[in-house]
Amino acid sequence: MYESYRIQPAGHKAGKRLPNAGPDATIDTGTPHHHWKATMPPVALVTGGNRGIGLGITRRLLTDGFAVSILATREEPADLLAELRADAGGDDRVRYVRGSVADLHDHARYVDDAVDAWGRLDLLVNNAGVAPTVRSDLLDATAESFDRVLGINLRGPYFLTQTFARRVVELRDKAAANRAEAGDVVPRPEDRPAPAQEESAPTAPVATIVNVSSISATTVSTNRGDYCVSKAGVAMATQLWAVRLAPEGIVVYEVRPGVIATDMTAGVTQKYDEMIENGLAPVNRWGRPADVAGAVAILASGQTPYSTGEVFHVDGGMHIPVL
Ligand SMILES: NC(=O)c1ccc[n+]([C@@H]2O[C@H](COP(=O)([O-])OP(=O)(O)OC[C@H]3O[C@@H](n4cnc5c(N)ncnc54)[C@H](OP(=O)(O)O)[C@@H]3O)[C@@H](O)[C@H]2O)c1
Repeated sequence: MYESYRIQPAGHKAGKRLPNAGPDATIDTGTPHHHWKATMPPVALVTGGNRGIGLGITRRLLTDGFAVSILATREEPADLLAELRADAGGDDRVRYVRGSVADLHDHARYVDDAVDAWGRLDLLVNNAGVAPTVRSDLLDATAESFDRVLGINLRGPYFLTQTFARRVVELRDKAAANRAEAGDVVPRPEDRPAPAQEESAPTAPVATIVNVSSISATTVSTNRGDYCVSKAGVAMATQLWAVRLAPEGIVVYEVRPGVIATDMTAGVTQKYDEMIENGLAPVNRWGRPADVAGAVAILASGQTPYSTGEVFHVDGGMHIPVL
């Protein structure tokens, strides 16, 4: 899977299970896809990974062998973390950082915590998001609501992406420098030769970023304009970061859910029940967190390194215009 950098204690032999790497650890690279589970787990950051869609993503990534660090505002959920750790085989593969994605000071703390604990970064899932506290018609909606929703849904993930990407590049370059010092040159992604035609396994990206947006990125709801604007912004941010980070070997995707059963939609269950019954989407049911998690897992698998900036809809086909 993720092969491009891995910080490891000096003297490590590929394939061995490793303790946490310290800041002075040396770096190994080039793990073949089928060996990654035998070494240090790939590391995922999932904002809002404690509830709803984010919790579905956390569970799925743990099942797939990732170590997952959650950022969320609530007090550390001891019972949930114990359950997740038990499900993960008792491994130290779950961390929780209490903070807000809207607070830029929390970003470095969150990213550093994972690097200090696990020594690598592979995946950022910008999932945390909020609906407006009150749904208000555009003519009545407040600037306070706009600032809150944009701060959490767009400004926060935009700058968390910046912090994450900078750290990935730093780790990648440190890995390359260490290898060069050891006489083993690691090419930057853009310097890699084109793969031979017969090569079948794709070269995994250095890291992956997945932004959870919404069907609201392109679908108007006049009673929550702030939310729609924030998600349209996430769609553009995905393309911006995809272009900027491609030369760094980092791919960026947007996962665009439709109607998913979580706390966020709990207050409007009846409305969506009726809409679904009336054919809201070709796949005629509520979406579930596991549906979104499945899409994230595919994009996080490292199998699509020649695709970036893509939108992956998880909406039962709701986005397809039907006459
Ligand atoms: N449910 C849907 O139908 C649907 C559809 C399309 C898109 N989405 C998007 O999917 C994402 C997840 O939504 P959901 O339905 O799972 O919502 P949810 O059940 O309300 O969960 C929201 C998550 O975000 C976290 N969060 C909220 N504010 C935060 C902040 N300032 N900093 C860090 N974490 C914060 C929450 O944790 P704490 O409470 O602990 O902070 C929680 O884990 C959101 O981006 C949402 O816009 C949802």
